[in-house]
Amino acid sequence: MRLLALLASLVVGGKIALGDTPPLNITALSSRDGYSVLECWQLLSPPVNYLSAVNYALGNTTVATWSRIEPRTTVGEAWAPHVQLSVVLNGLIRITAPAPGCGSTSVPTLCPRNGLASGPRPSEAVAYLMPGTALSSVLIAADLKASSTLAGHFTEFPSDEATILVQIPFVGDKAPTHMILHDGPCM
Ligand SMILES: *[C@@H]1O[C@H](CO)[C@@H](O)[C@H](O)[C@H]1NC(C)=O
Ligand SMILES: *[C@@H]1O[C@H](CO)[C@@H](O)[C@H](O)[C@H]1NC(C)=O
Repeated sequence: MRLLALLASLVVGGKIALGDTPPLNITALSSRDGYSVLECWQLLSPPVNYLSAVNYALGNTTVATWSRIEPRTTVGEAWAPHVQLSVVLNGLIRITAPAPGCGSTSVPTLCPRNGLASGPRPSEAVAYLMPGTALSSVLIAADLKASSTLAGHFTEFPSDEATILVQIPFVGDKAPTHMILHDGPCM
């Protein structure tokens, strides 16, 4: 880790040209005013050239899990169990955030009382995650239940094939440093 950091600072400090290497954008589930929202994050870690590749540090991670979800599964309202990177290897995930509110599919007991909201309810956005491109197959899930107290996200696995995911939690639930490019998933 130290060596990589040193290498990174040497490369960045030494201004070795990285050409037009663009910053990395990843669709994320985040929490805003108590609601889960979809955002397009641009990671702030600078690209670094080594081992014949352009490399972007994502952060320190813990135990990775390979998960298989049966075809046509509707999970319903959910929250990120940890701040984690999810990579979709097969199938399809449809995510709506915030989870559709009271009066539609949500269980009445989950409906927030008006007084609890610290801001307006964000408008719903939908993301489809699937293999195909780097952008379509990777998600950072950071909407912990402790932060999305009014509504989480709504998850479905609508494909006819099982969905296969690799889930990689970050140490200390620490998301990679980033800026928000826009609301909704990265396009
Ligand atoms: C990330 O988004 C920015 C702004 O839209 C864009 O210029 C850049 O090319 C994107 N990065 C990649 C790897 O596509
Ligand atoms: C990763 O862990 C190392 C060793 O504990 C630490 O020096 C480094 O700052 C951590 N990186 C991040 C992004 O948290």
